[in-house]
Amino acid sequence: MAFPPSFLDELSARNPIVEVVGQYVRLTRKGSNLFGLCPFHAEKTPSFSVAPDKGIYYCFGCHKGGGVVNFIMEQESLDFLDAVRFLAKRAGMEVPDDGARASGYRRQERLWALCKDAARYFRAQLFSPAGAPGQDYIRRRALSLDTVKRFGLGYAPNGWSGLLDAMGEKGYAKQDLLDAGLAVKSDKGGVYDRFRGRLMFPIIDVRGSVIGFGGRVLDDSKPKYLNSPETVIFNKRKNLFALNIAKKSKQGRIILTEGYMDAIALHQYGFDCAVASLGTSLTEEHAGILAKYTRQVVITYDGDAAGQNATRRAIDLLEKTGVQVRVLRMQGAKDPDEFLKQYGPDRFRLLLERAENHVEYRLDALRRQFDLTADDQRVAFLRQAANLIASLPSAVEREVYGVRAAEAAGISPEAMKLEADKAYRQRRAQARRRQAQKDLAPAAAAQPQSRELRYENVRSAMAEEGVLRLVLKEPALLDACRRLEPEHFSAPLLGRAYGLLRAQYEAGRPVGLGSLGEAVTPAELGHLSAVAQKTDELVSEQALADCLAVIDEEYARRQVAGAADLQAFHRRLQEKKGYGGN
Ligand code: CTP
Ligand code: MN
Repeated sequence: MAFPPSFLDELSARNPIVEVVGQYVRLTRKGSNLFGLCPFHAEKTPSFSVAPDKGIYYCFGCHKGGGVVNFIMEQESLDFLDAVRFLAKRAGMEVPDDGARASGYRRQERLWALCKDAARYFRAQLFSPAGAPGQDYIRRRALSLDTVKRFGLGYAPNGWSGLLDAMGEKGYAKQDLLDAGLAVKSDKGGVYDRFRGRLMFPIIDVRGSVIGFGGRVLDDSKPKYLNSPETVIFNKRKNLFALNIAKKSKQGRIILTEGYMDAIALHQYGFDCAVASLGTSLTEEHAGILAKYTRQVVITYDGDAAGQNATRRAIDLLEKTGVQVRVLRMQGAKDPDEFLKQYGPDRFRLLLERAENHVEYRLDALRRQFDLTADDQRVAFLRQAANLIASLPSAVEREVYGVRAAEAAGISPEAMKLEADKAYRQRRAQARRRQAQKDLAPAAAAQPQSRELRYENVRSAMAEEGVLRLVLKEPALLDACRRLEPEHFSAPLLGRAYGLLRAQYEAGRPVGLGSLGEAVTPAELGHLSAVAQKTDELVSEQALADCLAVIDEEYARRQVAGAADLQAFHRRLQEKKGYGGN
């Protein structure tokens, strides 16, 4: 950690948590806290809280929590350093120089600038006489001028050094272009443009920086698409094409496509929520990022075998994040781009609505897992299909898909209905039991669930939590804690937090969890935020004294127990020696 504490304090002060979180979450005040729908997991009722006085957020549902820096780390998928930079930029602050890290960042900044300049160059080329083939192609693909501009499309002319020369004039070195993946080194050591004779798609991250390119040939030559390689600014696993635009969509879902042209065509026809994974299948990181921006993802991959495999993988990854997953299948066209051209946006919208429940898709996938000519397999299919149908909320849907599944398995609709009704009743009973448990233990639901942070000495830990809450509310109480040392805590994390808060206080800094920086991990900070968000005791010296007394008492007891253990150990050792001697 190389940032001076005063810098982090100012960073927190100039980025009030309510303001920053408020840019992503609609917050409503309830008492001294604000509540909203958690941006980190899908939910319908708000369990995400922000405590402006403490400078923290905490979700009672998924147990994420922390200060403003952590929020940005989670929300924008940034590491600590980039989150700090993000907030510094937001508040118009200079980030202090810190040697190696800063030089790494300067390298990134240079490559961002280069990619932006390269995008400008490609665009200028497209609109110059040299760009005629590109313009021709754009017309053939029926892309409007508005679309071309919105996506910053460009053209890489067919020479070997057009970009190298133009960027050289702007002061970039060949090494810069190599590092940005824009140039390639030949075996003989010569350096030439990577993208030649291609329509260029800038890849822009969610913060608006150009980080790489995709380039499409204008004819049938191979490879059809060429993408920037991984660089220090371009990570394919973490970026999705057009997410910078789709993240602002009001359509309430994200449409996931396989290709640049599919995403772009969708945008052109008004579906401004389309994104594409970049020549790789969807990754766990992609899924997590999508879940941050939407509650529903509609997959519209190609209908071929590869596309269907990718669909299954994507469903699994996305379902783990809690978003609703839908699958849109097209007939009569290979991909959304072709479908839109052939049938228009209204037909596509219909498909989109029909994709609302993807039972058909899942039933179909299920059917293909079984050999329905064999009796035992038909029974197995029937069971699983019944389960699937029972999960549908609407009776009409259960009826419709029940009949369909029955047809597929070659059994009577009545038999299917019996089976599905049974599964449905089981589910309902299960849901009721779960709800009853929840109603019985509302307090338990508000406790942090993370297993690593279970307390060994609960009595002491509760008092330790109390101390933290009290001093967070009223830092001056730390004056009354002179005798309490971090080692007296039974829970190491609470002790460490106490030490850190005390250090803040002694240095005359504002006392808060939000500016602990990298001294605690995000998971630890989540736990501490949970502690801080528990119901407050009245702030008083007496309350503090009560906590201190418990901690003292338990500490003393542990010492004695430890000493007793030690004595017992020595005794056993002596006895052993005694036996040995005889
Ligand atoms: N892709 C790639 N490299 C290739 C072929 C494809 O990276 N050689 C990626 C691209 O991101 C492309 C996507 O896979 O957008 C889908 O490829 P494909 O289905 O072959 O092409 P379309 O998207 O249909 O492209 P177009 O309509 O331009 O032919
Ligand atoms: Mn296509």
